Amino acid sequence: MQNKILYLFGLPGILILGLLLAQCDHQMTAPSSPSFQDSIALYRRTLLSAEQCKECHPKHYREWQTSMHAYAFVDPVFFALDSIGRQRSSGLLDQFCIQCHSPLLPLLGEKMAVGGKAMLPPIAHEGITCDACHKMVIDATPSRGVIALYADSVYRGPIPDPVPNDFHQSRYDERYNQSIVCKSCHDFHTPAGFFIERTFTEWQNSVYPGRNIQCQTCHMKSSPGKVAVSGPERERVHSHIMEGVDIPLVDFPGRDEMIQRVSYLLQYALKMSVFTPESIRRDTVFPVRVELSNTITGHNIPTGSIFERQMWLECLLIDQATGDTLLLSGDMDPNGDLRDQHSEYVQQGLLPLDSQLIVFRGVPLRNGKEIPFFWEADAIYDRTIPPFETRMIHFRIPIASTVQGPCKLRIRLLFRSFPPYLLRKIGLESLIPKLVTFEMERFETTLPVE
Ligand code: HEC
Ligand code: HEC
Ligand code: HEC
Ligand code: HEC
Ligand code: HEC
Repeated sequence: MQNKILYLFGLPGILILGLLLAQCDHQMTAPSSPSFQDSIALYRRTLLSAEQCKECHPKHYREWQTSMHAYAFVDPVFFALDSIGRQRSSGLLDQFCIQCHSPLLPLLGEKMAVGGKAMLPPIAHEGITCDACHKMVIDATPSRGVIALYADSVYRGPIPDPVPNDFHQSRYDERYNQSIVCKSCHDFHTPAGFFIERTFTEWQNSVYPGRNIQCQTCHMKSSPGKVAVSGPERERVHSHIMEGVDIPLVDFPGRDEMIQRVSYLLQYALKMSVFTPESIRRDTVFPVRVELSNTITGHNIPTGSIFERQMWLECLLIDQATGDTLLLSGDMDPNGDLRDQHSEYVQQGLLPLDSQLIVFRGVPLRNGKEIPFFWEADAIYDRTIPPFETRMIHFRIPIASTVQGPCKLRIRLLFRSFPPYLLRKIGLESLIPKLVTFEMERFETTLPVE
């Protein structure tokens, strides 16, 4: 099912191509063709910090500052995995991860070294900063991050008639309200060329492009206001918070607000329907069918970092007369892990395996076996829900003759961005208390027993 697409360029290729493009663009403004070093020097002179936009674009700045784009180079999970990746690949991974998570860094001729980021230029710490998106040479090649930037002082954006200002020039580019600006980062091949994270492609293969519903329609909602303090009132100013499912696991501006936004987004991400007989009969197996329909989200659920995400059903059936639990699936062990093969309690035989549990995520495989690190995968087991598809989950609950009833049935659809076992594995156990489990859907009913 998975397409294998050849990964044509390694990082040197990316840099060279990046610089070629940068040179082409530069040639439009200056006749001399700069050398490799000159391009870096040019970038160093022209790239600006988000701080410099704050005065005139306070709303954009404030929102971006709380986004996962600004978090990208703060994210402890990213640094832990990046460092593990570089060690395990004996350096082969090199700057691969950074080209999307701090795209200005390679363009400035800087390198991520194992463990160290303190010495890097301040702008690299801004992660996916304003310049990365608004000076990007838009390129539809997946996995490329920012291939090159325009080394000038012109900000590209969606306004056809920007009023002039003393600080920068503006240029209209209609692609800013299209998904294409997100593609080079939100479609991902492993360094070996295996296509594993494909949010853009999932969207492209759905009905959404035909209805002109772009990434921005859902992730950058607009409201009337001023784009710049000195500018006119405009009908559409776009939110730059761009919430998805992830929240900062360290102190970071706007963490609480982000938790609320993610919670809201997840409550409107899919539709859950539950089907059961009208009563429970003793000495039979009671069937519960749950249907999950992705009728609202513009790509698979979950999407992107599907190897880290967990979406699952918790199913609880209780005999209210006796208080006995007739079924509990989707609960957590004392470590906070689901009772699957990753649970230490299950591994040690202290708790039974949750045989009815299904987790919606992607499992990275190598030679047919599950592996912990997604970039080493040569295949994936994909359990995500594409747009306008439905997945059915069946729970089969044995009912003993001693059950009295009535019984309470509760089904919840839950989501979290990281499982605790992963954080323990990469040495970030201390962040586990910061994880939030979101309730996406809830169903409750009381059933008589016959
Ligand atoms: C093609 C661009 C690209 C490359 C290359 C890339 N990432 Fe990402 N990464 C993303 C995007 C986009 C997301 C957000 C996707 C989502 O949340 O579903 C992301 C999310 C993540 C996350 C989850 C976010 C979080 O809060 O921690 C981690 C961890 C991560 N990447 C690690 C890595 C590592 C390690 C590498 C190198 C092996 C890497 N990435 C390479 C684009 C990239
Ligand atoms: C001195 C004030 C000022 C500063 C500083 C400033 N801008 Fe602007 N910017 C403006 C004005 C004014 C507009 C036009 C607004 C309008 O027409 O509604 C604008 C428009 C834009 C646009 C839209 C262009 C288009 O045609 O769609 C982008 C993108 C942009 N700025 C990015 C930035 C970034 C990034 C920074 C920081 C590096 C920045 N600006 C700093 C005043 C400023
Ligand atoms: C029709 C609305 C809609 C459209 C269009 C849409 N999204 Fe989403 N997106 C959502 C919702 C709802 C969620 C939360 C559920 C989920 O994780 O899939 C989400 C989640 C995400 C996440 C986090 C996913 C995860 O599980 O880690 C990323 C990254 C993302 N979207 C990027 C994009 C990009 C890039 C595009 C365009 C190619 C896009 N989205 C188009 C609604 C949309
Ligand atoms: C991840 C990419 C990305 C980042 C980072 C980003 N922007 Fe934008 N920005 C966009 C896109 C895309 C649009 C157009 C949205 C649309 O028209 O649907 C936009 C629109 C704008 C506009 C035009 C007015 C509007 O609201 O439509 C301004 C001004 C702007 N951004 C400023 C900034 C500033 C300042 C920063 C940093 C503090 C920033 N942007 C960071 C992608 C980005
Ligand atoms: C330069 C690369 C880059 C571009 C361009 C980019 N993104 Fe991202 N985006 C990322 C990375 C990397 C992350 C994850 C950061 C992290 O958590 O460490 C991310 C995170 C996100 C998230 C949050 C995901 C989550 O799990 O919560 C959403 C939503 C998102 N991006 C939407 C967009 C949209 C919409 C666009 C286009 C307008 C866009 N991005 C353009 C690299 C990019």
